Amino acid sequence: MIMSYFRENIENANGYQPGFQPKQTDVIKLNTNENPYPPSPKVIEVLAKIKPEQLRRYPDPLGDLFRRAAAEVHGLSPDNILCCNGGDELLSIAFRAFCDQNRPVAYPVPTYSLYPVLARLQNCIAVEVPFDAEFNLPPKLAATGAALTIVCNPNAPSATFIDPGELASFADELEGVLLIDEAYVDFAKDNCVKLINDFDNVIILRSMSKGYGLAGLRFGYAIAQPSLIAGLMKLKDSYNVDAVAIALAAEAIKDQKYFSENVEKVKKDRDILTEQLRALNFKVAKSSANFVLAEHKNRLAKEIYEELLRRNIFIRYFDLPGLNNMLRITVGTSRQNDKLVLALKEILSEKGTSNGGQKS
Ligand SMILES: Cc1ncc(COP(=O)(O)O)c(C=O)c1O
Repeated sequence: MIMSYFRENIENANGYQPGFQPKQTDVIKLNTNENPYPPSPKVIEVLAKIKPEQLRRYPDPLGDLFRRAAAEVHGLSPDNILCCNGGDELLSIAFRAFCDQNRPVAYPVPTYSLYPVLARLQNCIAVEVPFDAEFNLPPKLAATGAALTIVCNPNAPSATFIDPGELASFADELEGVLLIDEAYVDFAKDNCVKLINDFDNVIILRSMSKGYGLAGLRFGYAIAQPSLIAGLMKLKDSYNVDAVAIALAAEAIKDQKYFSENVEKVKKDRDILTEQLRALNFKVAKSSANFVLAEHKNRLAKEIYEELLRRNIFIRYFDLPGLNNMLRITVGTSRQNDKLVLALKEILSEKGTSNGGQKS
């Protein structure tokens, strides 16, 4: 028998499947929840002024320029901030910091599909507690005894939001760490940053990929009490965020005016798109994110997804329990959303396969 070079859990793992990134540019790409608008023009100005010397030298290991800027925006101290190479790096650091074979992770499902992948790689048990149909916080989640509990808020892919007051009571009940994944919170009505004043077991994940339009830069950060931040630092690569990323992310977070205007535009278009989809007979829950989750009342999601693909419109279809007749659609520019709605009208007017009023 040929032995694998890999640890058994790695050999048996599938790895994460990122959303499809088409090579063509003449497509309408509404499948990976990017911001449809570019980052602040001030970010592009800083990019144009990057000096060769900034590239020759190693970057600041802590990214203090960004930590100071983020601390100011959140009314906190730089010691409350840890810079990461995307929010995904923070998730990977958290699994390594808190979980092993005897220390499980817990999270409600369905949610971000990276969590089970990281659990597999870390060889820890993943306790998956199902959400109810309204995506309320499952009462059983507090009693799992997990070393790390993750709540994605707003949740992906449901786009639903749990009130920060409810998460505060939840944090109080937990023995382990609560990581609140706020990758999409820029588009919600509130957030959980205030929880870190009262709880030494709460970590907030933030991403610059969504509200700030910087998915290509790879920058995210943790917010927590300094004791947790200091512990997490031990696990990061020495230079986990590069010199260009630190400079650009700092400039982006400083430009709160551009950020808020951009986010407001997306939220307005999201609410218009929600109404347009409902008028086309889709069930769409209220979204607190930059995407919507839609289920057609009598047509198969897979068929709609494939028909859109034929028209070079990319959205996300999940062939997963609880989601298998659902389509996740990123909010695009008004023009992109209009083209999507037009294509949907055309597809729905053609004869297709009924889902038999399927409930998922
Ligand atoms: C729920 C959730 N959390 C975290 C991330 C990580 O974002 P990034 O690594 O781009 O900052 C994503 C990315 O899509 C996400 O959907």
